[in-house]
Amino acid sequence: MARLLLGVSGGIAAYKALEAVRLAVKRGHAVRVIQTPASERFVARASFEAITGAPVLSSEFESDRARGAYPGEPMPERAPISHLALVERAEAFLIAPATANTLAKLAHGQADNLLTAAALAADCPVAVAPAMNSRMYTHPATAANLRLLRARGVTVVPPGEGDLASYSEHGIGRLAEPEHLLEACEAMLTPQSLSGARVLVTAGGTREPIDSVRFLGNRSSGRMGFALAREAVRRGAEVTAITANVTLVPPPRVRLQRVQTAAELAGACRRGLAYCDVLLMSAAVADFRPLGPVDAKLKKDEGVPRLELEATEDVLSQIAEMRRPDQIIVGFAAEHGTDAVALGRGKLERKRLDAIVVNDISRAGIGFESEDNEVTILAADGTERHVPHSRKERVARAVLDEVERLREARVGSDGARADTRSPARI
Ligand code: CTP
Repeated sequence: MARLLLGVSGGIAAYKALEAVRLAVKRGHAVRVIQTPASERFVARASFEAITGAPVLSSEFESDRARGAYPGEPMPERAPISHLALVERAEAFLIAPATANTLAKLAHGQADNLLTAAALAADCPVAVAPAMNSRMYTHPATAANLRLLRARGVTVVPPGEGDLASYSEHGIGRLAEPEHLLEACEAMLTPQSLSGARVLVTAGGTREPIDSVRFLGNRSSGRMGFALAREAVRRGAEVTAITANVTLVPPPRVRLQRVQTAAELAGACRRGLAYCDVLLMSAAVADFRPLGPVDAKLKKDEGVPRLELEATEDVLSQIAEMRRPDQIIVGFAAEHGTDAVALGRGKLERKRLDAIVVNDISRAGIGFESEDNEVTILAADGTERHVPHSRKERVARAVLDEVERLREARVGSDGARADTRSPARI
């Protein structure tokens, strides 16, 4: 995947950087670590070395046993001349935790240890994840340093709010969670091809009440919708997710709107439509709902109730009627059996969509409640793309590639995909 360089400065939160490295390695990235001498008081280099499988460096004067190679790469015959070999070859550089002291040095161009020297020499994208006591974080000096770094194109992964390391202190300054740290790296590695685009995603499955405790629902977990939201954010889009009964942890930087029923989802989609450029309708919306749900709990000894159902509205078809010509609308179709693609094409035309993502729900191990999917993406211009059995993250990438293709086709050659990623200068 990518060569990631992690700089760890001295803070109690250094242990969280270990977890971020573990996640990065699990996702296939080759990670090298530079520690400041102070950080070694919190986490020993042996821990990072065990997880990355490569030596950790902390001084400009020590030689690199791996000769500048990232894990998985052959070791060069000669040792690199420069102590900056690691940063020269990094595709992204994350400094986490970044203490107030390290941020101050970065903002003012100091290079008094290997980490700060590497930051000064970086021409790959750089992110800093501040972690410190809340009074240090909110001090005007730290705020000014972060403003300087942002102005130079450095990504700041904001700290969270909550209990801090100092006994009984609460406030802002906790290092961002490991998942968010990795997300920031992956966003830096991804061309910002949806920068400026507003994407509305629906995720999960609606629930239609029978009485005050029971409902008619479906098996959708929201995994596909969240994978789409995460990938759209990574490509620079502004993302809102309308989530129907999803219990998964939401991806970072996604605005959430929670709904339960098909009618609530319809209302949220109608309100959101005016403010989006792309709608990805991955929620499983109920087609029928109990007529006149009961406010109280139905009692067993009152006999078996007769459930009478009525149709819900087809949200997507109605939205497609209201759309602006520049908007891209993508539907999802869960079909059963070998006719899945043909049935999906019928839905694409009937619902007047730009594209539809079809999956065959008769196949085991994909679709509902699964981490994986296998889909065919059909577009209104006649193209058809099969995405073989893979993780939903990969399916999400294929869907957004298709969205980008459709957007480009709509705006013509002027709208050609632009890589707006620019390296940060520390
Ligand atoms: N959909 C919708 N409103 C509904 C039902 C479905 O907006 N009441 C949307 C889904 O979010 C999905 C697409 O329509 O993007 C196709 O959903 P699917 O359940 O496969 O199709 P249906 O139109 O419900 O048809 P059927 O269940 O008969 O296959």
